[in-house]
Amino acid sequence: PAPVPGKKGNLTFKPIPPNEIDSVIVPNGYDNAVVIRWGDPILPGVPGLDVHHQTAERQQGQFGYNNDFLAVFPLGRDGRRALLVANHEYTNEELMFPGFTSLDALTVEQVRVAMAAHGMSVVELERVGATGQWRPAGGRTRPYNRRITMLDTPFRFTGPAAGTPLLRTAADPQGTTPIGTLNNCSGGLTPWGTALSGEENFNQYFVGGNEAPAELKPTLARYGISTTARVPAGSRRWDRAQERFDLAKHPNEAHRFGWIVEVDPFDPRSRPRKHTALGRFKHEGANVIVAKNGKVVAYMGDDERFDYLYKFVSDKTFRPGNSESARRHNLTLLESGTLYVAKVTGDSPPAEIDGSGKLPSDGLFDGTGQWIKLVSGERSYVPGMTAVEVLIYARIAGDRVGATKMDRPEDVQPSLHTGKIYAAMTNNTNRGVGTNAPADEANPRTANKHGQILEIVERGGDNTAETFTWSLPIVCGDPADPATFFAGYDKAAVSPISCPDNVAFDGAGNLWISTDGNQLGSNDGLFATAIEGPERGHLKQFLTVPPGAETCGPFITTDERSVFVAVQHPGEITGATMDDPASTWPDGDFAKPAVVVTWRLDGGPVGS
Ligand code: FEO
Ligand code: CA
Ligand code: CA
Ligand code: CA
Repeated sequence: PAPVPGKKGNLTFKPIPPNEIDSVIVPNGYDNAVVIRWGDPILPGVPGLDVHHQTAERQQGQFGYNNDFLAVFPLGRDGRRALLVANHEYTNEELMFPGFTSLDALTVEQVRVAMAAHGMSVVELERVGATGQWRPAGGRTRPYNRRITMLDTPFRFTGPAAGTPLLRTAADPQGTTPIGTLNNCSGGLTPWGTALSGEENFNQYFVGGNEAPAELKPTLARYGISTTARVPAGSRRWDRAQERFDLAKHPNEAHRFGWIVEVDPFDPRSRPRKHTALGRFKHEGANVIVAKNGKVVAYMGDDERFDYLYKFVSDKTFRPGNSESARRHNLTLLESGTLYVAKVTGDSPPAEIDGSGKLPSDGLFDGTGQWIKLVSGERSYVPGMTAVEVLIYARIAGDRVGATKMDRPEDVQPSLHTGKIYAAMTNNTNRGVGTNAPADEANPRTANKHGQILEIVERGGDNTAETFTWSLPIVCGDPADPATFFAGYDKAAVSPISCPDNVAFDGAGNLWISTDGNQLGSNDGLFATAIEGPERGHLKQFLTVPPGAETCGPFITTDERSVFVAVQHPGEITGATMDDPASTWPDGDFAKPAVVVTWRLDGGPVGS
C-alpha cells in the first residue's frame, strides 16, 4: 500500500539519487547545516583553527578530528538546549597539516596535535529559533563543554580486570588509570543519560611489538599488533611523543585500549571509565536496552573480518526515575555482569548456501543462534583461561568456544520499540577466499563487498535469553544485482546501498542505516526503511556526504525534528592532501570533519 503522506511513522520523503557531489545532499523539503566542525573552539579563551599555527594546546580546547559516534541529550525541560557528545576516532594528518609529506616527517608537536585531536567532545547546543536546527550555545562560558584527549585525560578501569597485572604499567603500577581513549568508533546512549563509545583499531598506534615478551606475542598478534616489525608500515610513531606507545618498553600499554568507555556528559568533572566486564576487542560500539527483568543488556560488535558478536548482561537491575540515588546506582550497571559471544546457525541445507548470495529454497537467510557464556564476574567458562584472561583476550575466548566468524560486525543496536536487535555487517572481501572461512547462511556471499543487516529476535522477547532466531532483512548492493535482498520488497523501489556501518531508530521505530566505503562508486550516505509491516525493506536514501567521507552518527532526536550525522574524513581519497584536496567541504577551503543537522523546513517529523 502507498504510504500516507505526512502520517507519523511513514517514510514519505522522496529519496535522493546516488551522487558524487562535494556537499551534503538532503531530500526536497529539508535543509541542513554544520553544527560544529574540526577546530571550532569549545573551551574558553581558545582561538579558532589556524592550520599554519596549530598547537596541541589549542587542539585540546577545540573540537577534535574525525567525529564518528554522536548523541544529543536534552538539557533542561524547555527543548531549547542539549548536550552533544561526539567522539573523534582518528586523524588524517595528510588533510590536517599544510605541506604534509609523510607521518615520519611530522614534528613531535604535530604528533601531539594529532593525539589531542583524538578522543571525545561534549558541547552544549541551543536550538535555532523554532526550527530543528541546532548550533553551539553562545554567550557565556559553557560549564558542560569538555574535551577528552589522548594526551592527558585520565580514565578509570572498572570491573574484574581493573588493577590486575596485565593492566599495570610503569606509569600506573596500580593498573587502574589509563590515559586517554583511542580510535573511538561508534557508541550508544544509556537510559541513565551517559554515552558509551567503543575503542576500535587501537593496534595501529604501537611500535616495538617485535620486542614484546614472547608470551604476549600471540595475544598481541590476535589483536592486529605486529610482532615482527619494530615499526610497522604506516605507523603513527606516537612513541616519539610518549614512550608508552613503545611495546618493547611498556608491553601492557596495549591492554589498556580496546574497551567500552562510558562518559557522563552531565558531570564535567567526572572521570570517564573503561568497563572491563564488557571485554576487550576492536569495539565498534555498545548499545543497551533494559530487559523485561530489569537487567541491562549491551550488544556489541568486533569490527574485523571473521570476528564476533557479543552481548553483556548486567548483574544488577536498572532503577527507573530521576532521583540522584537511582542515577548513582545505574552508573554502576556496566561494572559487573556476564559476557556472551554469538554462535549463529543457518536453517537451510548447507548445499543451498553456495556463496553466490542466491536465496535458499525456504526464501530467507535465517536460522537460530546461541549466546555462549564466556565469563561472569570472577568465573570463567572458557577452559584454560582465567576470568581476567577471558576479558582481556575476549577474541581468543571466542575462538576457543567456536563463535561464528562474521563479516565485520559494526554497529549492533536493539530497537527500543520491539527489543529486536539490528547489526550491520559492513563487508568482508576475504569471505570464502583461499583458506578463509567459507560463506554460511548469516554471511552468505563469497568476497562480500557490500555487507548485510542481521536481525536478531531473542527467545521470548527476553534480551537476557541465551538463544535467539535471526534473519537477514537486507543483503546490500545494487538492487539490480540478484545477490541482494530487501526483505522481499519490490527492488525497483529501493535505493542502492553498500557497506552499512551505523544503525539508529527514529521515534516510530524505523531503521536508519549509514554507510562507510560505498563500493557502488558514489558517495556514502544515510538510508531509512520501515522494519515492521508491509513497508519492511522499502529502503530509501535520505542523505549523502562529500567524496571520501563516511556517514556516521546517525542520531534522530526524540522530538523527531532533527537528524544529526557525523561527516567523518571528507576528502580521504588516496593521494589527496590539504594542499591538493579531494573535497573542500564544508567551507570551500579544505575539508573538515563536522557534525551536521538536517531538519524539515515545515517543522514536521523527519522522514515522514
Ligand atoms: Fe571505525 Fe568499524 O568502523
Ligand atoms: Ca533459511
Ligand atoms: Ca564504524
Ligand atoms: Ca547506532
